[in-house]
Amino acid sequence: MLPFDHPDAADHEAVHFLRDAASGLEAIIAIHSTALGPAAGGCRLWRYPNRDDALGDALRLAEGMSYKNALAGLPLGGGKAVILAPASIGDRSALFAAFGRAVNALGGRYITAEDVGTRVDDMKAVARSTAYVSGIGADGRSVGGDPSPHTARGVFLAMREAWRWLGGSESLEGVRVAVQGLGGVGRHLGQLLHEAGAQLTVSDIDPVRAQYARSQFGATVIEPQAILASDVDIVAPCALGGIIDAAAIARMRCVLVCGAANNQLATLADADALVDRGILFAPDFVVNSGGIMSVAAEYLRASDADELQRQIESIPLTLRRVLQAAQDNRQSTVAAARDMAQHLLAAAAPKATQVA
Ligand code: NAI
Repeated sequence: MLPFDHPDAADHEAVHFLRDAASGLEAIIAIHSTALGPAAGGCRLWRYPNRDDALGDALRLAEGMSYKNALAGLPLGGGKAVILAPASIGDRSALFAAFGRAVNALGGRYITAEDVGTRVDDMKAVARSTAYVSGIGADGRSVGGDPSPHTARGVFLAMREAWRWLGGSESLEGVRVAVQGLGGVGRHLGQLLHEAGAQLTVSDIDPVRAQYARSQFGATVIEPQAILASDVDIVAPCALGGIIDAAAIARMRCVLVCGAANNQLATLADADALVDRGILFAPDFVVNSGGIMSVAAEYLRASDADELQRQIESIPLTLRRVLQAAQDNRQSTVAAARDMAQHLLAAAAPKATQVA
């Protein structure tokens, strides 16, 4: 399939395919929008079943970044990179240095950082080849580095807000929360929920991570395939996207979904199916922006640690506006949030054209 024939490619500004034989790099960089600024979004390293799946992932993730950055009030557009993981990675540092050269060739239209499968050391390798990278943490600066704890904090604050919106208690004490995925974000979210007195149920395909949550947070560990349908109040997807489909929705028993994973819904229609089941969905691109706020603070050098915390504390307020709009307009929360973001992008577009 040609990239522009892909059903998710309609509004993207550019899609770049990259290959470097020496390092084994095969990657895609999708740029959805630069209306608000350079396209910013992390780099995912994943073993995809085929190239169409990798392309689809890059396109959807880049579009989500446009909406996320717009609603977060950041002067950044939306983009994303995926690296198709080779069968075995020889020299990891060389792979990411090659990726950095490809990012550099785009002249700053795309800024990269960590995502699933990539870590701070990888971004340090990218930085050998380009300055268009963040999530590294610079010496002597109060912001930057691994964005995961900031993402987790934003999700936690948003979850508390959504729980109150549903008429729940002021705090999350005693509330039953299922966390799917205990990586960078899920582990930190588990910690915050544990400190808040929530009752945790967790799963991870990596049993070591699940056992860590059991010992540190007193969490109940269950099989990965059972987590979405577990008997809890809130489900927090913090693994991969596309996990909430018609079959999952039919089995879910929670009243709220609020987690970090990008593109949790398999299709847009699933947002309406959740409404029909009476399950409130906190859109991922609204609640998981703490990480990109940290990345932006490091890259743009515009915010100190206090300002970053204030930005993260604005996430529940943005969520509340989305929930109110959805209620007022009788639409799903995803439709309401996309409308708000698209409005911001449309308002910025003429400015970008003039600059060009
Ligand atoms: P990670 O790669 O550190 O952790 C993901 C975890 O999910 C791993 O422990 C993995 O074993 C587990 N996992 C994978 N498939 C699973 C399954 N079917 N069931 C249970 N566990 C499974 O990734 P990270 O950084 O924690 O990100 C999690 C999600 O949040 C991703 O979708 C990412 O795109 C999104 N996100 C992350 C941000 C960040 O700051 N790291 C920012 C915004 C979104």
